[in-house]
Amino acid sequence: MTRTVYVNGDYLPETEAKVSIFDRGFLMADAVYEVTSVLGGKLIDFQGHAARLQRSLGELEMISPVTMDELLEIHHQLIARNDLDEGGIYLQITRGAGPDRDFVWPDPEEVKGGIVLFTFAKKLTAGKSLDEGIKVVSMEDIRWGRRDIKTTQLLYPSFAKMQAKKKGAADAWLVEDGFVTEGSSNNAYIVKDGVIITRQLSTDILHGITRASILKFAAEAQMKVEERPFTIEEAQQADEAFATSATGFSQPVVEIDGVRIGDGKPGPVSRRLREIYMEEMPKTAL
Ligand code: PDD
Repeated sequence: MTRTVYVNGDYLPETEAKVSIFDRGFLMADAVYEVTSVLGGKLIDFQGHAARLQRSLGELEMISPVTMDELLEIHHQLIARNDLDEGGIYLQITRGAGPDRDFVWPDPEEVKGGIVLFTFAKKLTAGKSLDEGIKVVSMEDIRWGRRDIKTTQLLYPSFAKMQAKKKGAADAWLVEDGFVTEGSSNNAYIVKDGVIITRQLSTDILHGITRASILKFAAEAQMKVEERPFTIEEAQQADEAFATSATGFSQPVVEIDGVRIGDGKPGPVSRRLREIYMEEMPKTAL
């Protein structure tokens, strides 16, 4: 089936969708994005993603070409037109296409932002990686210093994932000044003696929307949470480890740099958090 995608005001078959070669998203990764998961044809935590999108836009002095209500309607149109039951929606807003390549930002009154959305079908609720957990390797975090803004500058995360793949792992956990920042496309957690440990929010990491919900559910379930940095050595000695993201929910991690975590199987805390997440989030899905 040919997907219907949304590009700058039009719903088009994916093969007919085009953007300008002068679009700053293409030339300079001058763009922000969001990925929202879809379960049972409904959007999980749309409000959270829309709020973070607005924050990313604000930090970069970008103006959305659509309102958040219009954005929700576009998401719904794409779910309906593509008959999407499970998977997600990718959304990207760029600073638009100026008259030429220029490091200086164009006047937003003259150049309107670009916008692209497309759906992807993907099984999120089951799979080998959930049953067995994944292996990760550590890599130096050499990304720019504003990782709290969800930009499309993803060359290093993509490079890190490829390095991990070459080493037989599924992902990389990034390390700065000796401490884990986050995964290449997810937030990182360890569990020791029942305490969930994850790095505190700052400009060093993306403020995960799944992270916020998972930590809320953990607190409601009387689980102890410590928001602080941890090292790879501490992670290797933890009872369990996991990662969260919109498409992975709570993904167990069973090996870090060749060292087995706990008994090498997905741990009870990440499993329980996943169960709660899967039970609760559909209730507020839009
Ligand atoms: N990635 N940290 C980074 C660097 C990420 O790229 C992501 C999400 C997260 C988790 O954020 P959230 O829970 O809001 O999805 C943390 C998305 C899924 C992606 O790039 O595909």
